Amino acid sequence: MQPWQCILGGTRLLRRRPAGWTLPLALRTLGSTGHSLDSGTHTEGAKQSGGGLEAFRVKLATGPPMQHFLRGAAPAQESHRLPDDAKEDAAHYLGTDTVAEAPRKVYLETYGCQMNVNDTEITWSILQRSGYLRTSRLEEADVILLVTCSIREKAERTIWNRLRHLTALKSKRSSALVPLRIGILGCMAERLKEKILDQEKMVDVVAGPDAYRDLPRLLAVAETGQQAANVLLSLDETYADVLPVQTSTSSTSAFVSIMRGCDNMCSYCIVPFTRGRERSRPVASILQEVQLLSDQGVKEVTLLGQNVNSYRDTSEVQFLSGAPAPLSRGFSTVYKPKAGGLRFAALLDRVSLVDPEMRIRFTSPHPKDFPDEVFQLMRERPNLCKQIHLPAQSGSTRVLEAMRRGYTREAYLELVHHIRASLPGVSLSSDLIAGFCGETEADHQQTISLLRQVRYNVAFIFAYSMRQKTRAFHRLQDDVPSEVKVQRLKELMAVFREEAASANAAAVGHTQVVLVEGPSRRSPSDLCGRNDGNIKVIFPDVEIDGGSGPGSAAKAKPGDYVLVEICSASSQTLRGIPLRRTTLRESAAFC
Ligand code: 5AD
Ligand code: SF4
Repeated sequence: MQPWQCILGGTRLLRRRPAGWTLPLALRTLGSTGHSLDSGTHTEGAKQSGGGLEAFRVKLATGPPMQHFLRGAAPAQESHRLPDDAKEDAAHYLGTDTVAEAPRKVYLETYGCQMNVNDTEITWSILQRSGYLRTSRLEEADVILLVTCSIREKAERTIWNRLRHLTALKSKRSSALVPLRIGILGCMAERLKEKILDQEKMVDVVAGPDAYRDLPRLLAVAETGQQAANVLLSLDETYADVLPVQTSTSSTSAFVSIMRGCDNMCSYCIVPFTRGRERSRPVASILQEVQLLSDQGVKEVTLLGQNVNSYRDTSEVQFLSGAPAPLSRGFSTVYKPKAGGLRFAALLDRVSLVDPEMRIRFTSPHPKDFPDEVFQLMRERPNLCKQIHLPAQSGSTRVLEAMRRGYTREAYLELVHHIRASLPGVSLSSDLIAGFCGETEADHQQTISLLRQVRYNVAFIFAYSMRQKTRAFHRLQDDVPSEVKVQRLKELMAVFREEAASANAAAVGHTQVVLVEGPSRRSPSDLCGRNDGNIKVIFPDVEIDGGSGPGSAAKAKPGDYVLVEICSASSQTLRGIPLRRTTLRESAAFC
């Protein structure tokens, strides 16, 4: 039998067998997607509800007010987080036939970048509020959710392979248990949409990056044996009021999402299509989360977003005046300058004042949005780490143009010099792509020379992977053979390592402030931490002076700042001798 389908404001219900389509389900669908009630759909819901027009009127009268449906669509004002143990609104209008009787155990698996880790934390926060339990054991799970990545083809291939394994698990599941449900979340869900449901009949739920609030409903639909999808992108969803449950094993550091989406449209990149338009989380809710993390003893916060330094909070009227922020010299954008809003420098200023003993980092920025105020602030505040990720992507102006990055090699290098002059000792990192469309050997050599000139401390280097929908897919030829891409990738890696080793060697003989993370994985008699530039530092786990006179000697703990004299360096790690414990403010005087 052909599955019966219905698309509702981005939500598609795929029926394996014709079944009564409940009115409550239709209402929830419209509400959760933030769309106005569509009369056609409405009538259809009434028809299918089984109780006729009268029953429909009764349900409407006892249902939630219109505001309920609009809540998700309005720009988040001030953050008011529910406590972890708070229940979601009792959704009395959601038929009992769609609600799980016993708490279901959910297993979450994350692929890709730190944004996806954050999405996993948001997802878990939403499901926890809806009564789900979490398990770290796959075999115990009633629901398996994969938070997916689409950035390169290889990432998707890994997920398809995993999916095959999971669907086999689903088929073998004992009939004494509730059927296993599988959900695909995030970028791959957004990119492939309902195609996933068509291709993998065993997948029950597909939810894009802006649809996580809808997950309890989508899973309730899945409980009835139907497939459900919501892949609507939003213009304002930032999950500002959802307190992510930090799942990182490190108790010393945390990530705080400040914005979502990207408007840059680099020609190779799928992100603007999977994560949608740029939007910023209101500053008040960011500050609240940072304060909470500080109260919990977290010592390092990384502000997270696809384009963190394009941050522009327009949630309060007083932020709206003001001219567009100037771009870095020699940089341009594909979009019109955006006026008004509280900008990144102002956010950094406020965040850094929450707790002067908490380190603040940010990733990932775009080189175009670096006004001088940002560097000035980073120079002045000891807790703003002198570390900047400055994705170059290529060292060839010709390739940068084809990539639509909005800068030349020269403009990029000028920015690097300006940053180095403004922030002596700054640690720089980059993303680079090997073998982009039309890249010649001469272009590749330009990237090698960029690596030699800049001497990054950290670099992420990828072979170009053609992505559908992108401008490069439509307009350019993926003409660099894969073996050439791999060869160029290897060459870039080798040059990067050589340069990073010598950049790190410059630290030998200097004293650095290290935030202790815990025991070294290689040797339990060593501790591992990170310096201001985010480079790993290993040192012996011995008693050290506590900094408050005789008798204060003790071993350092995770979350302590320790002064370490650097003795040796490799391309990835520094080694040193611990001198004594310190604070950020104290060490600012002499490091
Ligand atoms: N192929 C290879 N690398 C890519 N990146 C983004 N899109 C692609 C692609 N299609 C890289 C860029 C970006 C990083 C997150 O991933 O370097 O900065
Ligand atoms: Fe992709 Fe470019 Fe946006 Fe980064 S800035 S997410 S590379 S489109």
